[in-house]
Amino acid sequence: MPKAIKPSASLAETLVAWQKVHGRNHLPWQNTRDPYRVWLSEIMLQQTQVSTVLAYYAKFLENFPTVADLAAASQDKVMGLWSGLGYYSRARNLHQCAKEVVSRFGGEFPSTAEDLITLPGIGRSTAAAVASFCFSERVAIMDGNVKRVLTRVWGFADDLSVAKNEKVLWQMAQEALPTRQLQTAMPRYSQAIMDLGATVCLPRKPHCDECPVQTQCKAYALGEPEKFPVKTRKLKRSSEVLWLMLAQNAQGEVWLEKRPASGIWASLYSLPVFDSEEAMQASLTPSLQKASVAGTLKWDVLPAFKHVLTHKDLHCHVVKLKAAKGAPVLSEGAWWSEKEWTSLGLPQPVRHLLSSSL
Ligand code: ADE
Repeated sequence: MPKAIKPSASLAETLVAWQKVHGRNHLPWQNTRDPYRVWLSEIMLQQTQVSTVLAYYAKFLENFPTVADLAAASQDKVMGLWSGLGYYSRARNLHQCAKEVVSRFGGEFPSTAEDLITLPGIGRSTAAAVASFCFSERVAIMDGNVKRVLTRVWGFADDLSVAKNEKVLWQMAQEALPTRQLQTAMPRYSQAIMDLGATVCLPRKPHCDECPVQTQCKAYALGEPEKFPVKTRKLKRSSEVLWLMLAQNAQGEVWLEKRPASGIWASLYSLPVFDSEEAMQASLTPSLQKASVAGTLKWDVLPAFKHVLTHKDLHCHVVKLKAAKGAPVLSEGAWWSEKEWTSLGLPQPVRHLLSSSL
């Protein structure tokens, strides 16, 4: 019998073999098929580096060993533990998702990408990550790293800001998935393509000399790997002016309010926020307003600063005021001691202000 001709290894097979030797294999959310642990890591890793996530991941698992523990926790506790990771909608969705896993799925994460995507905060790529890592489902992840790797390998030059083009890439990604030994190959492949994007196929100055698919890479052949992916449309940015009230009493406590469930810094604790200095003044309790008009209230306007969010530049003005007694400053909110506010979920600029200007 003639010897079977071994077809040259596919992209997927090459990446799987590379991952075993050169990939990241000892991160705390690896070597488990527990969807709770994998899901938690994927949400944390969405906009945050591995090195930052490590401590938060450990802290969450310590406080909430199971999805039921997370579901049963108070929102303030979840936001407090998340504090510092940023993108707080992730924390609100995380908590809501845990509650739905308990209420809709009896405390067990569903095992298909199709069902996972129905949960809050789980998009198509996160659903695919959990389904491929935990259940070996043949579904393609598509985060920023993966888009970069695939558009380069295939020389995919169509603009990814156009939804139709992204859809085509996703379809091609789906077709390029492993076809054999899925039980082990799928989790390994998902990790491989993320690892390649994170450690070799970098946005700037990619390490093409270390790349296992260099010989099949169109972008490398063109000599212009950095030109991919092509994405023309920039994020639409807006800006907003905020006036923050930094009120402190004689005991050194600060006045904080809980933000509403939607809008900027939703569900976090914050210094009170106003549209203008006048609006701030008009919201004071009657006795403080009187003092303000009489000029006996200490009212210092600190230098303004800019805080950059994903979609928005916040131009923040800060008014520092001293309330002599522990009486309320506004109708909403309360006095918090330093010991108390350090463990609250606070927006990063508010935390910074509190720790630097008191
Ligand atoms: N980013 C998103 N998912 C990841 C994972 N499983 N390992 C490392 N980085 C990631």
